This record gives sequence, C-alpha cells and structure tokens, in this order.
Amino acid sequence: MEKIRAAITAVNAWFPEYRLTNDELATMVDTSDEWIMQRVGIRERRILKGERQGTSVLGAEAVKGLLDKTGTDPSEVDLLICATVTPDMMFPATANIISDKVGIKNAFSFDLNAACSGFIFALQTAVSYVETGRYKKVVLVGADKMSSITDYTDRTTCALFGDAAGAVLIEPTTDDTGIIDHLLHTDGSGRHHLHMKAGGSERPASHETVDARQHYVYQEGQTVFKFAVSKMADVAVELMKRNNLESEDIAWLVPHQANLRIIGATGKRMGLDPSQIMINIENYGNTTAATIPLCLWEYENRMKKGDNIILAAFGGGFTWGSVYIKWSYDTKK
Ligand code: UT7
Repeated sequence: MEKIRAAITAVNAWFPEYRLTNDELATMVDTSDEWIMQRVGIRERRILKGERQGTSVLGAEAVKGLLDKTGTDPSEVDLLICATVTPDMMFPATANIISDKVGIKNAFSFDLNAACSGFIFALQTAVSYVETGRYKKVVLVGADKMSSITDYTDRTTCALFGDAAGAVLIEPTTDDTGIIDHLLHTDGSGRHHLHMKAGGSERPASHETVDARQHYVYQEGQTVFKFAVSKMADVAVELMKRNNLESEDIAWLVPHQANLRIIGATGKRMGLDPSQIMINIENYGNTTAATIPLCLWEYENRMKKGDNIILAAFGGGFTWGSVYIKWSYDTKK
C-alpha cells in the first residue's frame, strides 16, 4: 500500500493589538532598547490585555481564521491539538476550550506541552495521526499568553516574551510533498535551568508561592543560551545530513524565535545565508509555541510548492528538535 504522507495545507496566525515596546519596558525595569536589541533582537511584543482573557482567546482567533481561509466547516475537523505552556486553566485542556469557541464538535482534542518545542513536537504528533489514514483534517494551534507567566519586575526575563497564536491545517497528500522527516529530543535534567516553580502538583499555589513570585518563568539565561545554540544547530545539521540536503538545497530555515543570536548561530552552522532564514523576533519576541507558525504565516506568500523547509526549536524541558518539510502549496495572500 502507498504510504500516506501528511502536509501543511494552510497557515494562519493571530496576535493582540497592544504593543509593549522596549521604551515602555524601560519605565518598568532597569533596561534599555539598546541592550534588548543588541543581546536579544526584540523591539516590541504583543500583549493580550483585559480580565479573564486566556490563551484560548489567541488560539480560537487563529483557528477561526484558518477555517475561514480554507473554507473548512468546523464539523469536518477530526482532531485539534493545542501546543501551549500557558493553558487557560490546569484542566480541561485549552484545546477543548478552543474547539468549543470555534464550533468544532466532531473532533477529539488535547493539549501538548513541550515548551518552546511545542509546535514541532505537536506537528509530528498530528502527522502520525494523519499517516494512519484515519484522520483527514487535523488542526494544530501553537498558542501562548506568555505575559500571564512573565514577571514584569525581573529585567532578565520580562523583555523576552510575548503573546500570540499560530495555526496550521494538516491533511493527507497525494504528491511527494509534505512532512518528510523529523528528529525530536528531550533531556529532563535540563528542567532545573528553565521552569515555573509553583502552581503544579509539586508546589500548589499558596500565599507563600505567590509572595515568592514563583508563578513566573524562571530562567538561567546563559546556561539555556549555550544549550540552545549547540542543540538546535546539531539537530538541524543532522537532519540535513540524513536527508542529503546541502545548504543551497534549503529554501528556508524556520527557527524558534528566542534570541536573534541563537538564530544566527544556527543558520551559520547550517551554512545558510541570512536571506534563507525566517525572522520576526523583532516584532513579537518569544511567543513559545507560536513562534514557528507565526513565521510560516508571515512568510507564507514567499514559500513555493516543493521548497525544502527546515523547522528547528529548543526550549524548556529541555526539549529540542527539527522537522524537514517539502512545502505543499503556492500562495498569494
Ligand atoms: O525559548 C526558550 C529557550 N530560551 C532561550 O533560548 C533563551 C536563552 N538565553 C538568552 O537568550 C540570553 O541568555 C538572555 C537574553 C536571557 C540574556 O542575555 P545574556 O547575554 O546571556 O545576558 P546575561 O544573562 O549574561 O546578563 C548580562 C548582564 C547582567 O548584568 P551583570 O550581572 O553583568 O551586571 C544582567 O543582569 O546583563 C544584565 N541584564 C540586563 N540588562 C539590561 C539582563 N537582562 C537585562 C535587561 N536589560 N533586560
């Protein structure tokens, strides 16, 4: 029997209107536009304002737009996966809430938590379902309201993160495009360097945890930086090698957007010219599970059917990996 391959057949993204600029951050903590641009490459990030506005608000907007754009009736969707580290609540899954908000009723849905690698881990999960032949329309949304777990009194983390969602439709293909190969990794011993200390079952929320500001991202920046630079590049280069791809064969690298210096180092190790790399960190910061689909959406009309695309990510866990896609369609937005 012919192997069923899965392909991304549409992309959409959504982000809130409010722009938190470096200049505004400099009124909150001891920082500057110059430091943030030089060390990280972020100029502004979008923030979802308002009471009781969770990640599902971002995710539902991205998914609604995806269904509209593709003329997909919500009843046709078989599965919805939401990659996030900032669920609306501990349970039920934010995927369930998004499905409800957009009218998806004939599907099952669940969340997947792999931090900044969430989108690529969930992509490979979605692909596995499609490759069984049983699931024809799978929606994957990477969504994070990082402002809900960012400590705006901590200058070492508050400049890094933003809020956004990106969604893709994944369907079976009949041609030789689609998601071709992947390499995914986890090393749980890295958890000590990047995590949120409280709010889980090990340290439930209490007055003490709130007073100790333990419901925010804790990151040992330099250690994470070193791992990110080596692991993201190693895995992308290994994926290139095992698929006999030279740097000139690659149309686009789509890297997780955590730090412009990490992106640059990864591209260099892969032998790429900067013009082959999708970059939008300056405008959105690190939106965790949303960075990669947000890039795909922004660059959608520059990709062509048959383009070799490499996704690469590194994040909390530690988690990291890379995915090789032969792009499946031409677009004019
Ligand atoms: O997406 C998930 C994975 N996460 C990542 O990949 C992030 C990886 N890490 C990084 O991107 C970088 O380590 C950071 C951007 C977080 C920090 O940059 P760095 O070049 O590693 O700076 P550093 O932590 O070594 O700090 C250097 C100095 C320190 O001051 P002292 O101790 O030398 O006086 C920091 O306090 O820079 C200071 N600093 C700041 N200064 C102005 C840290 N944050 C700021 C800031 N503004 N926002």
